[in-house]
Amino acid sequence: MKTILRPNIAALVPYSSARDEFKGTAEVYLDANENSLGSAIDTHTLNRYPDPLQLKVKEKLGKIKGVAPANIFLGNGSDEAIDILIRAFCNPGKDNIIILPPTYGMYEVAAKINDVTAKAVNLTKDAQLNLAGIKVATDKNTKLIFVCTPNNPTGGTIRKADIETLLNTFNGVVVVDEAYIDFADEASMIQDLIKYPNLVIMQTFSKAWGLAGLRVGMAFASNEIISVMNKIKAPYNVGELAQQLIAKALENKEGVNKMVNVLKQERAVLVEKLPTFSFVKGILPSRANFLLVKTTCPNELYGYLIDNNVVVRNRASLPLCEGGLRITVGTPEENKKLLALLSTFEKPLTK
Ligand SMILES: Cc1ncc(COP(=O)(O)O)c(C=O)c1O
Repeated sequence: MKTILRPNIAALVPYSSARDEFKGTAEVYLDANENSLGSAIDTHTLNRYPDPLQLKVKEKLGKIKGVAPANIFLGNGSDEAIDILIRAFCNPGKDNIIILPPTYGMYEVAAKINDVTAKAVNLTKDAQLNLAGIKVATDKNTKLIFVCTPNNPTGGTIRKADIETLLNTFNGVVVVDEAYIDFADEASMIQDLIKYPNLVIMQTFSKAWGLAGLRVGMAFASNEIISVMNKIKAPYNVGELAQQLIAKALENKEGVNKMVNVLKQERAVLVEKLPTFSFVKGILPSRANFLLVKTTCPNELYGYLIDNNVVVRNRASLPLCEGGLRITVGTPEENKKLLALLSTFEKPLTK
């Protein structure tokens, strides 16, 4: 890890906040220039800065995930983790990352913001890794490879054996984005962290946990990588309310499992019904809470749904996604509404 870390980050002495320096409980806190009287919203005790390392949350989360708190990073969405990883390992104007389109757009955007080149190696026709292509694209300045599984927007999982090939052969960090893993039948790679010091796994509270509005994402990795991420992050990157609510949510894994089951059932309903429309050419196999639906007329269909107050994501311009609309699995009622709308869209075409 030390050989691929940016030298300025390796040498960085992080900002030490008041709450980093004093971790115990005191009677009087006059160390952080907070408002000692209280806050504008008197129903919450928010006048104090939150725990910079979110230890209570990490202890609970660690028990569920089977990892130690020292192997967990929490951030302002997994988007923060993506940005921090790029800043930790990639020298601006010099280094590069590899992305595997079609995939989540923020890897490339975060790279560009940091003046880092994102080299694209498209997935193969069956939405798997092009290992030979990745090998050709990799050079001595390639620091990170972002693998998204289940992949957004195709929805399928990437073969684990291929990810392991990357982990064994790539002299950099392999970031496995498992934002949608709760909807998959395949297991998370968290248990493989012990085997691979160059593995980072990202997950999020925004999908299965239903907490996108809170903005909390997770990364799991070796102590060394997590320490570097903590060194770079803003001192208080996860707010007090977010920490409290995540701690509460972690007590309701059962509720999350129930929602996941309903969404998986609804996904199956859509997979069965959508191909009955003449303009649906196919659906990619999905292990996520969305479907990439290939259609003969994506733009018209997208516009028609918008006109009827239903928003989906038009992904038709991406490689492997020709004609593709990415449709999130909704509530049973929402899915019924979608199917009803689609049946009235079909009529003009079949006249
Ligand atoms: C694959 C993938 N990773 C990460 C994210 C971002 O997650 P967060 O809300 O935790 O920033 C998304 C959001 O759509 C996503 O699809």
